[in-house]
Amino acid sequence: MPNFRNPRAGRPHLRTVSITGVGSYVPAKVLSNADLESLVETTDEWITTRTGIRERRLAAPGEATSHMATEAARRALASAGIRAEEVDLIIVATITPDMQFPSTACLVQRNLGAVRAAAFDIEAACSGFVYALDIASHFVASHTYNTVLVIGAEKMSSVVDWNDRNTCVLFGDGAGAAVLQNRPNAHGLLTTCLGSDGGKASLLELPGGGSACPATADTVSRRLHFLRMDGKETFKNAVNAMVAAGQEALGRCGVTIADVKCIIPHQANQRILSAVAERLGAREDQVFVNVDRYGNTSAASVAIALDEAVAGGRIGRGDLVLLVVFGAGLTWGAALIEW
Ligand code: ACO
Repeated sequence: MPNFRNPRAGRPHLRTVSITGVGSYVPAKVLSNADLESLVETTDEWITTRTGIRERRLAAPGEATSHMATEAARRALASAGIRAEEVDLIIVATITPDMQFPSTACLVQRNLGAVRAAAFDIEAACSGFVYALDIASHFVASHTYNTVLVIGAEKMSSVVDWNDRNTCVLFGDGAGAAVLQNRPNAHGLLTTCLGSDGGKASLLELPGGGSACPATADTVSRRLHFLRMDGKETFKNAVNAMVAAGQEALGRCGVTIADVKCIIPHQANQRILSAVAERLGAREDQVFVNVDRYGNTSAASVAIALDEAVAGGRIGRGDLVLLVVFGAGLTWGAALIEW
């Protein structure tokens, strides 16, 4: 087991915070690269070589973000061995809420029957799950709540412009969830490093439908309700930010990348994953990858990957796990966890 420093230790009034259960859900419908060839001018070869994505999942008609979030949450609660009534707080990270309000977290609370829980959403795009983990951890550490459910869930297919080949090939739908509690005699979440740069907000945005640009027939005809992205600039910023956040997390805990059992980066693009791994000095077998099967599921991405990594035996008790994320905002972050 690696030797590490716990930056959260030495504060006796705070508790440690562990992930005691994980779960995920992806819709059944698969959209392959071959299927996309009949929608926009693209090829399986272009998508595979530029992104590593082979297929993605699409929510069924009528299936909203809250439905996927609820299913992932049920699985996470089952894996933690707790009942919905025991949950104190639900945080949903999403950029594709069911509606402007009420929050998706409140809808999940209703669906689960988590009658004691407070609930709210946060929005940090693809970085949302790590932002939410950080927020949740403080509630547990400070003894405010004992059990917090953190969910990353997205129906990206509802905001993707299916006429724009630059973006529609990249995204998919799904949800992942984690239960945070104090586990006695465990370190759990060692540190989180968050960052943002609103100066680059326009690199990745969905301009229509908010208070700056309320929905009208004109905004619909100008396709302002779909996401837009400067892919090349996003790519460069993503690699730099994820590497810097990962290094900061490792440095804070006095460990090197070699001490980490499993690195779970935001699954945006295989080339981004490879560049991040190389610049962190990681071996290929340390990096968890499922972007080939799901594409970019935004806030759900690392949550789904974490669940699959645990289920597949890639992470065991005591292992160090590094999450690194990046998204619109710009936002980024890293979390180092003793599992
Ligand atoms: N099929 C075929 N050709 C395409 C497609 C497609 N699906 N998409 C773009 N092209 C074309 C372009 O039109 C361009 O053609 P041109 O040279 O005639 O103008 C050509 O391919 C090259 O396009 P580039 O933009 O140079 O391609 P690049 O190698 O940069 O790859 C990509 C594009 C995959 C989008 C890449 O930039 C990327 O992955 N960026 C990061 C995206 C990302 O991670 N976004 C999510 C961030 S997180 C969040 O919060 C949502």
